[in-house]
Amino acid sequence: MSLIKLIQLKSHGDDRGQLISLEGNRNIPFNIKRVYYIYETLTDVRRGFHAHKSLEQILICIYGSCSILLDDGDKKETIRLNTPNVGLYIGAMLWREMFDFSKECVLMVLASEHYKEEDYIRNYTRFLEELECASYV
Ligand code: TYD
Repeated sequence: MSLIKLIQLKSHGDDRGQLISLEGNRNIPFNIKRVYYIYETLTDVRRGFHAHKSLEQILICIYGSCSILLDDGDKKETIRLNTPNVGLYIGAMLWREMFDFSKECVLMVLASEHYKEEDYIRNYTRFLEELECASYV
């Protein structure tokens, strides 16, 4: 099964332009408790380098483009996000890295929980150990 889970977001386009609405537990498969966005990222920057124990997220590149690597401890897959009408769903226990940001990229993230540092796994070796312990793999 692919690690890349894309959600097609309906755009309400008319002769004035486009509009996309995001609603928790409707077109977004969880209650949205937090929204943040990453912008003015330098092109040679790679960020992320963590997994979450339980957080669910949807990443939407609302402007420009960037690449996301997902890793479940067994396989790695990469996706290029370059349109505001596609969301990438990332569930618990997936290592992620973001890179190749275009100059004006704005990457918006919807999250199922408030910011909680205890939910982060920021060390790759520990990520693999946690997967073993929980028999995720
Ligand atoms: P960081 O986790 O390093 O970002 P990334 O995973 O994209 O590399 O977050 C950068 C800083 O922002 C760090 O000090 C934590 C803070 N932060 C918040 O305060 N709230 C949030 O919701 C997020 C995602 C980060």
